Amino acid sequence: MAERINILYEKKPCYDIVFDTGFAALSEEMNALFGKERKICIITDSNVAKLYLEAVKENLKDVAKDVVSFVFTAGEEQKNLDTVKSAYEFLIREKFDRKDVLLALGGGVVGDITGFVAATYLRGIDFVQVPTTLLSQADSSIGGKTGVDFNGFKNMVGAFKMPKLVYMNVSVLKTLDERQYYSGFAEIMKHGLIKNTSFYEWLLDNMYEICDRDEEVLLKMLMQSCMVKKLVVEKDPTEQGERALLNFGHTIGHAIEKASDFKMTHGECVALGCVAAAFISWKHNWLSMEEYYEIRDMFVPFNLPISIENIDPEEILKLTKSDKKMENGTIKFILLKKVGKAVIDYNVTDEDIINAVKEILYIEDGE
Ligand code: GLY
Repeated sequence: MAERINILYEKKPCYDIVFDTGFAALSEEMNALFGKERKICIITDSNVAKLYLEAVKENLKDVAKDVVSFVFTAGEEQKNLDTVKSAYEFLIREKFDRKDVLLALGGGVVGDITGFVAATYLRGIDFVQVPTTLLSQADSSIGGKTGVDFNGFKNMVGAFKMPKLVYMNVSVLKTLDERQYYSGFAEIMKHGLIKNTSFYEWLLDNMYEICDRDEEVLLKMLMQSCMVKKLVVEKDPTEQGERALLNFGHTIGHAIEKASDFKMTHGECVALGCVAAAFISWKHNWLSMEEYYEIRDMFVPFNLPISIENIDPEEILKLTKSDKKMENGTIKFILLKKVGKAVIDYNVTDEDIINAVKEILYIEDGE
């Protein structure tokens, strides 16, 4: 029996996150929400299509008037308005109207594009998220952020659009390559660090089962992680305040991602960003030295980096200033008041950032 969590929007029930170990129950969920008279367009990318498109199409064929698919080339660089335009053209050709439904089958890029198309096509049509990476299950499929990159700026054009359902099949995590799998952990650990000490401790206690991708443990982990995100996005769905806490590790993380020319994964950069932010929290006397080192070292068993070669602290500082997290010229930095309690801080200095980047700069012994 699938587990579920409901997400409220403006204090009213808005959509369920369903946690399951297969795709079988997706059709029941879709039928309960939409009936059988709607058309469904599955939007996915060329990698995910090979793995799951036929199974999902087959699962949905009896609960829709028609099931079609729009498949675009996999890759972060496809998260742009050209892909959105091709999707509009496809939907127009297939005569999709406002009563029809889009279904995002894939990782963060697929979810963000599908959500943005759903927010704008015919001024908005329903959409469902079926995330297939740990990163998208833990983070991007929840909370209604959608959008694309524009002229080299990440997520510069977008909309808030709530899905009608998020359906998480944890068994798909078994096909992820190690790098993609572990990349998702940075956001999961972040959820423990910013809001839930017992979840953080649970992650430490269950690291071997998590690394083994034990389905029961994965379900438990995702449910606890999604509870943190639920509580934050329900309080502040459009990021007027508290939702910014989810950016813990992202200010320096995004700067490293840009400096690496997006060759490092998002999760790897967020892990480094979390270490740097925890270091600043220690230097502000909020965390103890032991807590800082425990946080830093907990990324290691999950194959996430805690140091990096060849970065220039001055360049990283400059890049943090071009990030969206600036407010009136001041960096809105997320720090830890203690483990399990993040705060927004406007007093992080350039020197704090430089020192934190130096802390994660890998220097070979003897040099
Ligand atoms: N990924 C951060 C957020 O959803 O606000």
